[in-house]
Amino acid sequence: MKTGIITGCSRGIGYALTELLTDNQNFKIIGTSTSGKCTISKSNFVCYPLNLSNSNSIVTFVNKVKKLKIDFLINNAGILIEKGNDSVINLEQLRQTFNVNLFGTIELTEKLIPSFEKNGHIINITSDWGSFSENNFDEFQPHYKMSKTALNMYTKLLAKRLEEQNLIVSSLDPGWTQTDMGGNDASRKPTEVAADIRDLLRKNPESGNFWHQGKVREW
Ligand SMILES: NC(=O)c1ccc[n+]([C@@H]2O[C@H](COP(=O)([O-])OP(=O)(O)OC[C@H]3O[C@@H](n4cnc5c(N)ncnc54)[C@H](OP(=O)(O)O)[C@@H]3O)[C@@H](O)[C@H]2O)c1
Repeated sequence: MKTGIITGCSRGIGYALTELLTDNQNFKIIGTSTSGKCTISKSNFVCYPLNLSNSNSIVTFVNKVKKLKIDFLINNAGILIEKGNDSVINLEQLRQTFNVNLFGTIELTEKLIPSFEKNGHIINITSDWGSFSENNFDEFQPHYKMSKTALNMYTKLLAKRLEEQNLIVSSLDPGWTQTDMGGNDASRKPTEVAADIRDLLRKNPESGNFWHQGKVREW
């Protein structure tokens, strides 16, 4: 039995991944959404409320799960609040975005590290938009892009730090995906990304890499 936490399981990629993994009775999944609600109802699944921009909410959630031995954490929940053509920094939006995509995600991860089993795996869902090696770089969505770049550096730092504990830390770039965030024109389906994440969990890969569709990509 593998026990895993998936943040943001109510919609999009997190929902598809939760559906996929809970079809297998060898997985026990603890999901989160801001309301604590999720339409998935299965015996090996429970959903708790978690608001990553609120430290009290993170503490309450961690208290509910800290007695469990965790095999994996999928830091999937995230926000993109800018409009497509926004390029000017709006400090309020920058703070809001970092509070969820970076600070809250890091606070949750740090508080859960003591609960991990040996060979546990932390997967941070970041983005090609957080990469320095993207060919089609533009000035838009600066807050979101910076939050994912910083999360990628956290992946690298944490991978080094947790080497001796045999914990694996990865970043995963899902690609443009049909969700509330990605919109209907996106090229990938959430079920395809869910399969990529499941395959990465199975792989037991080298720590500290950035993955896209089953392959290591450039940071
Ligand atoms: N879709 C894409 O094209 C794409 C591309 C690259 C990377 N990504 C990344 O993939 C991940 C999943 O994206 P998605 O497209 O599936 O997004 P989505 O459909 O917008 O779903 C976002 C999920 O995050 C949760 N969430 C939102 N605000 C939160 C908060 N303050 N605290 C805790 N949870 C919160 C939502 O819960 P509620 O339902 O309760 O609001 C929801 O479950 C994100 O990290 C995103 O940046 C997506």
